[in-house]
Amino acid sequence: MKTVLEPFRIKAIEPFRITSVEERTRILDAAHHNVFLVRAEDVMIDLLTDSGTGAMSAQQWSAMMTGDESYAGSRSFYDLEGVVHKLTGYRHVFPVHQGRAAERILFSSVLSPGQSVPNNAHFDTTRANIEFLGAAALDFVHPSARDLSADVPWKGDIDLDELSSWLEAQPPGSVPIGMLTITNNRTGGQPVSMQNLRAVSSLYRRHGIPFFLDAARFAENAWWIHRLDPEWHDKTLHDVARAMFGLADGCMISAKKDGLVNIGGLLCCNDDALAAKIRNLLILTEGFPTYGGLAGRDLAALAQGLREVLDYDYLHYREASAQYLADRLGAIGVPIVRPFALHAVYVDARAMLPHIPPEELPGQALVCELYRRGGIRAVEIGTLMFGRKDPVTGEPVVAEHDLVRLCLPRRVYTQSHVDWVVEAFAEMMRETEHARGYEILEEAPFLRAFTARLRPVSRQAAVAHR
Ligand SMILES: Cc1ncc(COP(=O)(O)O)c(C=O)c1O
Repeated sequence: MKTVLEPFRIKAIEPFRITSVEERTRILDAAHHNVFLVRAEDVMIDLLTDSGTGAMSAQQWSAMMTGDESYAGSRSFYDLEGVVHKLTGYRHVFPVHQGRAAERILFSSVLSPGQSVPNNAHFDTTRANIEFLGAAALDFVHPSARDLSADVPWKGDIDLDELSSWLEAQPPGSVPIGMLTITNNRTGGQPVSMQNLRAVSSLYRRHGIPFFLDAARFAENAWWIHRLDPEWHDKTLHDVARAMFGLADGCMISAKKDGLVNIGGLLCCNDDALAAKIRNLLILTEGFPTYGGLAGRDLAALAQGLREVLDYDYLHYREASAQYLADRLGAIGVPIVRPFALHAVYVDARAMLPHIPPEELPGQALVCELYRRGGIRAVEIGTLMFGRKDPVTGEPVVAEHDLVRLCLPRRVYTQSHVDWVVEAFAEMMRETEHARGYEILEEAPFLRAFTARLRPVSRQAAVAHR
């Protein structure tokens, strides 16, 4: 049979309110046309993020009831430590409250001002934590990732030639840590090949640089290696994951993704001296090392989540559900980024709404239309998020792309929810010329997308502007 089933039944449900277009139009107006300012209870299908939004299994919920809440030496910690040892092979395992806590603690332990950290592409919080310490976060994006529609695998790879020549030119001691993010969130959740992982590992080793993975979506990366690399077809997903981790000296994991939990993170390493520094900082800011800022029940749910996430049927279904959305959108002519990722499908809003110039935020126009028509919340990744005003001329500087990300929370939505999303797009595709651009009325000096107040550009102004 061709249909790929959800490999689970639904035991508990979370009802949401079905709202009308009129109601949503009012809500959007009141939220100043910024979906971050819309209350979650006014959203029907929330595709804002895949982080901390997944559904836990019955086994995870029952593990929570048996979580050991002891301050020191919790049984739930030792259980989690055993699972993480088996998965990664790393000697030292520290729980933290989420990914960015691991970033802060790791970078504070190894980085000094003026030093640099290379990566395929740093996630926003990773970059921010490096820059906060006065160091530089450098991206070596693979050239294939620049073409949004090129349907080629491994667009998450690091650009090895660039990295290699850059490393040759660095003064000794100026690169205390090298990284690789799997999957590469900044390039649309694209996976990294095992070949690239191996080459990066030996390059960093040749330069004596400790190699750390940002492994928030390690299971999704392992899935693509298993699916697309003939060398790994016959190996288990656990073998693939273990091999990826085995190439590095440690990792940071935001467990809100492939940990299948709503909160939690991990920081792991092999180096005893580094582990001692991490332990001290952890005690100072997160908590005792056997709970690291989490409740015992959170540790228990995470241990069980890590046992579940490399299940073949789960990852097969995860690919099939992303593919279903990507194929349906592609079939009605919606321009999407290729290949689709497991955690999200990205729409090229600039290509979908070519009559809206980038300064009028085509991505935000699409996000607002999706909410208005379908109660669907997506996120703009474009000029609203990354654009700015030129400090000298005051003119808007637009982002390289205007994308809209449709994130897929794990084990939450069914096929009819996805059909609803596709139907909202189909309505829009029939009358794209009606979509209007947006202008920003108020913005914060940093991270403006989260709080900006906007309004639609009036028809006359839009025409006069062009
Ligand atoms: C690749 C990557 N690294 C780090 C983080 C930060 O994790 P957290 O949100 O748990 O702090 C994220 C979150 O989205 C991420 O995608």
